[in-house]
Parts: sequence; C-alpha cells; structure tokens
Amino acid sequence: PDALPILGIESSCDETAAALLDGTGQILAEAVFTQSAEHARFGGVVPEIAARAHLQRLAGMVQGVLAEAGLTPRDLGAVAATSGPGLIGGLIVGASLGKGLALGAGIPFLGVNHLEAHALTARMPGLFETPPAYPFLLILVSGGHCQCVAVEGIGRYRRLGTTLDDAVGEAFDKAAKLLGLPWPGGAHLERLAAGGDAGAVPLPRPLLRRPGCDFSFSGLKTAVAQAVGKGYRREDIAASFQAAVAAVLADRARHAAAMLPEATALVVAGGVAANQAVRAALAEATPLPLLAPPLRLCGDNAVMVAWAGLERLRAGQRDALGLAPRPRWPL
Ligand code: KG4
Ligand code: ZN
Repeated sequence: PDALPILGIESSCDETAAALLDGTGQILAEAVFTQSAEHARFGGVVPEIAARAHLQRLAGMVQGVLAEAGLTPRDLGAVAATSGPGLIGGLIVGASLGKGLALGAGIPFLGVNHLEAHALTARMPGLFETPPAYPFLLILVSGGHCQCVAVEGIGRYRRLGTTLDDAVGEAFDKAAKLLGLPWPGGAHLERLAAGGDAGAVPLPRPLLRRPGCDFSFSGLKTAVAQAVGKGYRREDIAASFQAAVAAVLADRARHAAAMLPEATALVVAGGVAANQAVRAALAEATPLPLLAPPLRLCGDNAVMVAWAGLERLRAGQRDALGLAPRPRWPL
C-alpha cells in the first residue's frame, strides 16, 4: 500500500485540513481551513466550536482533495489522521472519519502523533536539497507547543526541553492582546514591531544561559503588561518583546545543539517559525543549517500528517481501528 496515494487528515486544534500525497510523497492536493475567525471573539480556541467546525467541513474537504486529484477512496493505499495530542472533540472527528474511510476501502489506518508530523515534515522530498539525516534537532514553536526534540529516527524522539508555562505562540498572542491587537496576534505583533526600537524597553530573558533547553514565557508576559502600564510606545514594546523571545529561543537552541552533538540540522516548525526575527536568531544560534519548511507547512496542515503516515507505513507500521485519540500524547 505504500506505493499508492495516502490521505492525511488534521483536526487537532483550529485548522481543518486534508491532503493527498502520492506514494513517493509528492503532494497531489491539499486544503486547509483556518477557523480563527470563529474563535476570535473569544480570544482563543473554544474546543466545542472547533469540534463542530471540523465536523461541518472535514468530509467536504476530503471530497474536495480527492476530486482535485481525480481519485476515489478506492485508489488510496492508506489513511492517516492526527490522533493526538490536541483537543479531544476535533481529534475524534478526524480520526473517526479516517477510520471510516480506511474501513470502507479496506486499507491501513494510521493514527498520527501531531508532533511527529511536525518533526518529519522537513524530510519530505523536494523541500530541501538534502533532507535532514537522523539525528536532527527540531524546535517546535507554535500556539500549543513549545519544545526541543532530538529526532533520531521514525518513532525515535527524545524531548530535550519544553515550556514550563506558556507555549511561545501563546506568549505572542498574550503580548499582542496587551497591545490591543486582534487574536491570534503573533503576525500582527511582528508588523507592529517593524516600526519599533528593540532596545527601548528592558524586558527579561527567562532562563537565558540556564542549563538544558526548557522554556518559560509567563514572566515576559507580565513584564509586557507592566511596560504597557508605564506608557512605553506600543511599537517599542512589540519590538523589545520579539527581540527577547528571539534571544531566548536562540539560547535554548544553542543548548539543544550541545545536548545532541551529532545533530545534522536544526529544523524549525510551528506558526511562530513565520517570525523573521525568530528565524534570524535561530539561523545564527548554532553552526547547524537551519531548515525552515515553507510557512504553509510550518503551521498546522494535513500534508505533514500524510507524510508522517507514509513514513510510518514504509517502516511497516499501521494502527488498529480501535486506536483511541489521545488529548495528551508526548512524543
Ligand atoms: O502552528 P500554528 O499555526 O498553530 C497552533 O499552534 O495551533 O501556530 C499558531 C501560533 C499563534 O500563536 C500565532 O500567533 C503564532 O503562531 N504566529 C506568529 C506569527 N505567525 C503566527 N508568532 C509570531 N510571529 C509571526 N509572524
Ligand atoms: Zn501544530
């Protein structure tokens, strides 16, 4: 079945996505719907709304990518659906649809770990001239996740560090909210920061130069709130915040590289990887090549899920239809 097309489904947070890859990993069709407009007035993802929105759109999106590729479920070799970690309602919607399709077509089902999907994306054919060889470092910086992982092979991951409080994207969103920007605020904050002075507002750099590569952002958020209260210019606060985050991420990446001296590359993934200051800091942090997948593959998407499914299928893996989605599922 690994020579046939594979369908990927993603529904763990607020992106509804479906994608088809051929048996070599080339993208045949992909679709992502971002629900943020439905959650924006609540200032964050509302699990119940997310689950209902996935239920409303997902099957139609699968139909859409199949039609675009000129395929039917009978042409597929396997179905991969994100089965954790994430919001349980959405995971159940996506995994159940994936299982139903696999059952109907009589093909393997793979319940993919969302973090594994982010981790393996950089190995997709055609993305980089030389795909990263194992082991490589992954720095995952999104709204829901913030961790450093040693990727040593398929199914072989070692978490080197994680956040002690907020994820970095969450920190961007909270800082943006304090600056009066709409949710999700990361990209808005980056635009505001472009007109500011990164040295204007003294902000802490949590855990800088501490051993290991854990992260902490809650103190930085508190400091931003205080800076707003003191009347600093909004663009200066934004630029200073962004510089503090970039410096912390670079420092943590440096420590991670020291913890995995055999690493062949530093791969960055997650929505915050869109931030140019963060990218620049990570590129300089270590002597390793920084591999940043294109933005649409950095944020949540189904291409990465299909690809992880294909890699697992090639490794002889598949999952039972009884596999239960897991809201918590560390790598
Ligand atoms: O990986 P992602 O698309 O999805 C989830 O985590 O669910 O990441 C979204 C996060 C949000 O917190 C958003 O504010 C942040 O990534 N983000 C950014 C930028 N673009 C998106 N943060 C900083 N700078 C950006 N340009
Ligand atoms: Zn993600």
